[in-house]
Amino acid sequence: MKRKIIIDSDTASDDAVAILMAHRFPDVEVLAVTIVSGNMRVEDGSRNARYTIELCGAQTPVYVGCARPLLREPVHAYWYHGADGMGGMNYSEPKLPEQDKHAVDALIDLVRAHNVGAIHESPLLVTLGPLTNIAAALIRAPEIAKMISRCVVMGGAANVVGNVTPAAEYNIWCDPEAARAVFRSGMNLEMVGWEVGRGDAALTEKEIADVYALNTAYAKFAMDCNVHALQLAKNWQGDPGMTLHDPTAMAIALDPTVSKRSGRYRVDVETRGELTRGMTVVDERHTVGTQKIFTDEWAVREKNVLVHHELDARRWKELLYNCFK
Ligand code: RIB
Ligand code: CA
Repeated sequence: MKRKIIIDSDTASDDAVAILMAHRFPDVEVLAVTIVSGNMRVEDGSRNARYTIELCGAQTPVYVGCARPLLREPVHAYWYHGADGMGGMNYSEPKLPEQDKHAVDALIDLVRAHNVGAIHESPLLVTLGPLTNIAAALIRAPEIAKMISRCVVMGGAANVVGNVTPAAEYNIWCDPEAARAVFRSGMNLEMVGWEVGRGDAALTEKEIADVYALNTAYAKFAMDCNVHALQLAKNWQGDPGMTLHDPTAMAIALDPTVSKRSGRYRVDVETRGELTRGMTVVDERHTVGTQKIFTDEWAVREKNVLVHHELDARRWKELLYNCFK
């Protein structure tokens, strides 16, 4: 039986590779791609997702969702991903239409409809953008939290420096209130911070050349739309190559054994901090709940998130390349 997956995305160039991976991976059925405002405005995210799905020869339904964060003003990242979000490749307009249903309703309806057996047979939810759609769905139908087998979140920074501020990673920073609602929802949550895709997980110039040498439309697409961000990854982030944050989360979602080091902790999201907005506060030393100095609200929550700290770079890249063949 195929594993069912729902992808929520702000479809910029790295999201596109993650969407491609899910469509190319054996024994996986992508039920839907839901679009959220984030790096891209939803109209651009929708177009980029539909183009990617068409490239894969699929008809996966695309539903457009929340066009802005719950409370905060939208902050997009066209400067990083290019005016079209796909590295300036200006791909043709996809023929695959958007669905009429709102993404939040689609998420609820799909999860309910596929809640038919054991929890491990329920849909896997992979989030690649801000968590606005997911929070809205959980607020509207809290019971779906227990109908999702795993929710793998590309987002956060586990007690390491962020990418948009010293404290926070973009997807969480963009809509911290939504992220807090999701982290407190009781879903079976896994967090893949931006640090997981850095360092030796980045694709070097030689590895990029090796991917192009696969000589397939998938390989060319994946590299072409991310080369624009390569210079920023190297010069602005200080990474040794092309960082593919959403694909690293998708790889762990599709094959958890790619994760080399992880731990289960209490994790909550800072929503009030002037300097720490969107910080994922990861209680790695399990200090909270053991001392009375912390507020009760912290002490009552379980170790709610499996945090992935590091992946096996060789296996991650092997899985990625296999999706391009
Ligand atoms: O911080 C990295 C995340 O922000 C990735 O999901 C990227 O696509 C952007 O959404
Ligand atoms: Ca994204």
